Amino acid sequence: MAEYRYLLGALGLLGAAAAAGLPYRTDVTTYTLASDKIVTPVKIVLLSDFHNDRSDKGTIALAERVRKLHPDLILMPGDMAEEHNHQERTFLLLRNLAGIPMYYSTGNHEEFRWDLTALKQRFRDCGVVVLDEKTDVIKIGETSLEIAGISCRQEMKNFTPEEISALFHTDYYRILLSHKPNWINLYDRVECDLTVCGHAHGGQWHIPVADIPIAAPSQGLFPKYTTGIHDLTYGKMLISRGLVRHYHGIPRLYNNPEIVVLNLVNPHENAK
Ligand SMILES: [Fe+2]
Repeated sequence: MAEYRYLLGALGLLGAAAAAGLPYRTDVTTYTLASDKIVTPVKIVLLSDFHNDRSDKGTIALAERVRKLHPDLILMPGDMAEEHNHQERTFLLLRNLAGIPMYYSTGNHEEFRWDLTALKQRFRDCGVVVLDEKTDVIKIGETSLEIAGISCRQEMKNFTPEEISALFHTDYYRILLSHKPNWINLYDRVECDLTVCGHAHGGQWHIPVADIPIAAPSQGLFPKYTTGIHDLTYGKMLISRGLVRHYHGIPRLYNNPEIVVLNLVNPHENAK
């Protein structure tokens, strides 16, 4: 009988520990990168892996939270529309961000949809620039950015670093949107200042206190590339932990969803 009580107590403690790590809030993580190519400071918000995982009310609140950050532009490197499951929330989010320049490239959940052409058109109808092997130039104050995006293909061999580098046509600050951070060996050889990714969902579950990610798609157990800024030969790779809270019903643990803010500054100026 005593052993039974101990077992129940242990299970209760485990349940309480798991509940404490549920994704009750969405973090805002801020980074700053400096480059001589930046004249006027630029504030970027990076949103990825929305997966339609908010209620309508939560989606509007998320958009409002982003608006209050006053971004100059928003980058979305994929998995913003999870198949057809509550997909209207994706467009609710985009409509509530209207007026802010938005750039998008596909994730694995979008790239293989039979209705991908129509889906991309719906993004465009919300004012989003869809970057599928294309680039766009935007000027923020005195700073010009050239932004490219590549589709989330099954294998990195579908692209070469030379092909991706050739997408860029200027010497402006170069940004590449590409969903999967595990393609880091490819990005490493692309002549680009910044590559932004998502996909890893921060590692889904973290070991508490040690804060070690446990698993991520395309990387398996104890993944290396789930968050933060990583050095590349030509520039940096920035990974968002993503916005999804429950991936196909499985909650994140000790790994909150996040909105990423990136301030691009001139090395001789302060971030705004
Ligand atoms: Fe995802």
